[in-house]
Amino acid sequence: MTAQILDGKALSASIRVDIRETISKGIAAGKTAPGLATVLVGEDPASAVYVRNKRRACDETGMVNFHKELPADIGQQALLDVVAELNADQAVHGILVQLPLPKGFDYDENAVLQAIDPAKDADGFHPLNQGALMQGTPAPIPCTPKGVMALLRETGLELSGKHAVVVGRSNIVGKPVSLLLLREHCTVTVCHSRTQDLAAVVGSADVIVAAVGVPELVKGNWVKPGAIVLDVGINRNAEGKLIGDVEFATAAERASWITPVPGGVGPMTIAMLLQNTLEAAWRTGA
Ligand code: GUN
Repeated sequence: MTAQILDGKALSASIRVDIRETISKGIAAGKTAPGLATVLVGEDPASAVYVRNKRRACDETGMVNFHKELPADIGQQALLDVVAELNADQAVHGILVQLPLPKGFDYDENAVLQAIDPAKDADGFHPLNQGALMQGTPAPIPCTPKGVMALLRETGLELSGKHAVVVGRSNIVGKPVSLLLLREHCTVTVCHSRTQDLAAVVGSADVIVAAVGVPELVKGNWVKPGAIVLDVGINRNAEGKLIGDVEFATAAERASWITPVPGGVGPMTIAMLLQNTLEAAWRTGA
């Protein structure tokens, strides 16, 4: 079997076109342009690239971007003050503090996420919104997991009753995507660094979501023929090439559908961020 490609680049481009049209119609009808604040603390090169791409996508869709670039040593209280200022700013409908915060400066990441107004939480990382996700009530959903689910819907395959194996238990991807898969009536297994016989667990999956940040941890020959493979990993190999958490070429020989890296889940994260911001803006009647 050769897998069909789940093209996140194409899907995200079409979602962004829809968002741009919605915004331009809304503005013509007297609404305010949605505003997204991006906060980058420090100079981590990967975070800088992610934030730059998010800002560019904002501009392209007609959203207003409010960007704060803060020194790595700005400190917890000053960062909380910036968040408070953005919470109070009526033109800002969505706030995103890029994670991780710089190491070695004693930041309390959870306290920063809790300080964001839950109604402006474009990432869906506030504990109230995470609680709502667990309860299945409406709330902003974390962008990467939301993008994974949108790609899964593209396959048109029935998810109910399927065995979904999530590799990775992060708050940003592993845990929320597990809840979303459960919402679709999958039987969900969450694997992590202490999981015994990962190959056997992954081998029993109908749906594999790899989100560990370990290059090619999931071997192609583990994949059950016909499985759907979603690779959230973005890693660089020794030659500087971007690779995922799954051995793509060998996995693609067995899977029914697979996301490439780059061009799979990555672009979907940004499209979902724009969607969350648009929803936050117009929920407030802006
Ligand atoms: N770091 C890695 N992914 C994300 C994300 O989706 N949002 C934020 N704020 N930080 C991240």
